[in-house]
Amino acid sequence: MLPTITWDNDRVILIDQRLLPTEEIYLECLDYIQVAEAIEEMAIRGAPAIGVAAAYGVALGVNKVKESDDLEEEFERILVRLGDTRPTARNLFWALERMKQTFDNHKHLALPELKHGLIQEAIAIDKQDVETNKKIGYWGRGLIQNGQNILTHCNAGALATAGYGTALGVIRAAYEQGKKIRVFADETRPILQGARLTCWELDRDGIPVVLITDNMAGYLMKIGRIDAVIIGADRIARNGDTANKIGTYSVAVLAKEHSLPFYVAAPLNTIDFSLANGDAIPIEERNPEEVKKLAGQCITVPDIEVHNPAFDVTPAEYITAIITEKGVAKPPFTQSLASFKG
Ligand code: MRU
Repeated sequence: MLPTITWDNDRVILIDQRLLPTEEIYLECLDYIQVAEAIEEMAIRGAPAIGVAAAYGVALGVNKVKESDDLEEEFERILVRLGDTRPTARNLFWALERMKQTFDNHKHLALPELKHGLIQEAIAIDKQDVETNKKIGYWGRGLIQNGQNILTHCNAGALATAGYGTALGVIRAAYEQGKKIRVFADETRPILQGARLTCWELDRDGIPVVLITDNMAGYLMKIGRIDAVIIGADRIARNGDTANKIGTYSVAVLAKEHSLPFYVAAPLNTIDFSLANGDAIPIEERNPEEVKKLAGQCITVPDIEVHNPAFDVTPAEYITAIITEKGVAKPPFTQSLASFKG
């Protein structure tokens, strides 16, 4: 299985997703600041993978603490730095909360035991994410029929998680069942996660994939080339409103217009039960240079004004079902998601 991120001998090793698919280079993080920078600069990205990276970042940070340091102060500094990286992914804050809980449970112990406890917890979060994705795949594969063409947006695959993927996990599980399916991957401007990452990982696994530009999806739906849409999520409000990569909302509107099922695949730790709806989901605004450049080349007037929101929110009424590790939630999501909680 593709190793997105691993803990190895007091280091965090991750595949540098900025360089894929041209170069397969592994980045070594020796301290929590390097992990925070890797998340910010999207060497690692995708909500569940960001959560796992943050957990390892906390473990790395505390691993460097000396007996003479103020432990609580240092821990707070680590949490704040990692929490400041990307605001939309709920999994990031979920992982930091879980590491904080472990810290609180172990802080009365000797420092080496506390360090060990945090490393073990981060490894458990990593392993648990893969198991969760396999369960999402198990529940979701029944929604995919033999011979279907499935559209996906961005990358919600092995690279976006600790392994296997959420949306691509469902596709993998259906493929492993022997279903003949074909994936249409939106290229996903501006960072091209679809073209660079989804195509790379599906092609590597032998799953048929066709690359399209973002503006082709509507036409393909109109001429009957798409049977269903499946995407991942960065944060889901308790009513089912779903934040995902910018452009997801447009795809959802198109799917509804063409009476196509629109599925969201996500672990329960992506759901923010504190939010009644998607209005309060923080949407990250990224560097304008990402829009102005394509493969490092400026493609516009250099000082043009740019708007670069990284995510949008798809209202629950556009979503056919939300596939989680506990089963498939159907509308009304406020009830169905709540029944999976805890
Ligand atoms: O900006 P990114 O690449 O981190 O955005 C990723 C997405 O929007 C994914 O679809 C989402 O995180 C789900 S990944 C399983």
